[in-house]
This record gives sequence, C-alpha cells and structure tokens, in this order.
Amino acid sequence: MPIVSTKEMFEKSMKEGFAIGAFNINNMEIIQGIVDAASSQNSPVILQASSGAIKYARINYLMKMVEAAAEETNIPIAIHLDHGPDFETCKKCIDAGFTSVMIDGSKYSFEENIEITKKVVEYAHSKGVVVEAELGQLAGIEDDVNVSNEDAKYTDPMQAKEFVERTGCDSLAIAIGTSHGAYKFKGEAKLRFDILDEIKKEIPNTPIVLHGASTVIPELVKMCNKYGAEIPGAKGVPDEILREASVRGVSKINVDTDLRLAMTGSIRKVFSEEPSTFDPRKYLEPAREKVRETVEHKIRDVFGSSNKA
Ligand code: G3H
Ligand code: 13P
Ligand code: ZN
Repeated sequence: MPIVSTKEMFEKSMKEGFAIGAFNINNMEIIQGIVDAASSQNSPVILQASSGAIKYARINYLMKMVEAAAEETNIPIAIHLDHGPDFETCKKCIDAGFTSVMIDGSKYSFEENIEITKKVVEYAHSKGVVVEAELGQLAGIEDDVNVSNEDAKYTDPMQAKEFVERTGCDSLAIAIGTSHGAYKFKGEAKLRFDILDEIKKEIPNTPIVLHGASTVIPELVKMCNKYGAEIPGAKGVPDEILREASVRGVSKINVDTDLRLAMTGSIRKVFSEEPSTFDPRKYLEPAREKVRETVEHKIRDVFGSSNKA
C-alpha cells in the first residue's frame, strides 16, 4: 500500500474512539519493529521523524525505508515530521514526500505561533499535505527547546478554538500534563482530562495529539539498569491513563522514549551477557524484536487501534 495521509485514520479514530500510535523512527531496525507490530495487529500507524532523526539518518534514507515498509504491508502508514522547528524544515519534508508535518510554534507568542503555522499550512495544503500544530507548552526538552516544569503551560481551550480557526491546521498537539523524556512526574502521574474535555467541546472536529506520552515501561527501565545503565527514578504515563486518553478523544499518541529504552535495554543485555559478540546483527536483531513487542503491546492493549486498518 502506498504511504497515506493521516486524514482518514484520524476521522476513523474520532468516530470510533481509539488512538493511533505515532512512533519516532531513527533507523531501519526501529522502522521494521514498529511496522511489523502494526501489521500483525492490522492497525494504522504513523512513523515520525524529528529534525534530529533526519540529521542522523538523512531524509532520503528515511523516506526510502518508509516506502519499503509500506510496500511490504497492507496497513495505512503515514510519514510525519515531528516538531518541525521552522518553515524551511517543513518545506524540505513536504518536498521529499512526507504526508504530514508538524510545525512546533509553541515556543513563540500566540500571534507568532499563528503566523508561522499559517505559512506552513498554506504551503502544505497546496501540496496535499496535512499539518499538526502545537498550542501550550509541555515541560521537558523539545529538540532545542528546554521548558522547565514551572514554565509548562496547559493549553487554553478558548485559545485552541481561535488558533485552529485562524491557522487552518489539521490537528492540534495540546499540553495537559505530559512531558518529553524519561522523567515525567515527580509524584503521582496525572493528566488534566478536564482540560481535554473542554478542548474537545470547543474543537470537536479537530484531531487531538498527545506528545510526551511514553509509559517509560518499568520492565524496560529495569532491564537497562540491570545491564549497566543509570536511569534511576524514571517515570512515565501509565497504560490506564493512556487508555483513558484514547477513548476520551485523543487521536494521536506520540512515543519515542519507550522505543529508546527497548533498544538500549536489549543491546546492553547482549553486550553484558555475550562480551565476545561483535556482529551488530546479534544485538540489533533482539533490539528490533523488543521494539516490535513494545509497539504491539501499545497498539493492542492501550491505544485500541488493532483491526482498525
Ligand atoms: O519529542 C521529541 C522526540 O522524542 C524526538 O527526539 O529530537 O532527540 O530526535 P529527538
Ligand atoms: P516521549 O518522550 O514520551 O516518548 O514523547 C515523544 C514525543 O512526544 C515525540 O514528539
Ligand atoms: Zn513531542
């Protein structure tokens, strides 16, 4: 199946109350692990590349690998730019064949965010590409932007309505308590579902996106630490909360950290248990398999997108 837009998968998700996983890709093993999992669950999936991923893997390699993955399967696969920092990066991805881009203007003022988002929407729509924008600020690190917990700002529902009307963006990333990385909560994990409900009331037809939504799966953290990593006290969004978000109107759930942990834990295990191994396939194969297992669990047990292809 050719690479698709997120339009139809989002329409279905809003109608039927499930979320689509958007998983960050950086190399072939990650792409294969994600797509094998989505195929086995007959689920739509979004593969997303950050500008850091594009710098690392190079845009043509990423595009060709995603095309190859799509050719081998019958599930809908979209390719999306994650946290596009500026118009030029969005344009580069649109011109390279991405079906969706995010322009992250959340670091700017409301008016500046509208201005840059509008510019991207105009170009993207002229090429049949959809645009995700962001309003509100997540705590944590967004590529080159470091936002402290105190500075994180929840999305204002009324502003969300005005923002979507004035920019024409196709989906909106909101801030309701998640953050990027492996340290999301000091105390109890909690999301502001009351704000989500208000936002859904104001913009019922706009797909909602949740960034910073890794669970920071305790078994994966344990595996990393057991084999030499130092990631103490890591904490993410528990499955039950993400399950609730999926049925309560979140259409796209972003996951990167859990895949990083899956890769790192698996590779560390081989390095530790088989010190004489130096064939990269011997550690990348189990890493790919752990990514597959992790994504399959999310799709099947948390996001509810199995058999929604
Ligand atoms: O939200 C950010 C993603 O985890 C991507 O991270 O910019 O280090 O590739 P990255
Ligand atoms: P995590 O760090 O929680 O995986 O979030 C990823 C993300 O939001 C990518 O845009
Ligand atoms: Zn993000």
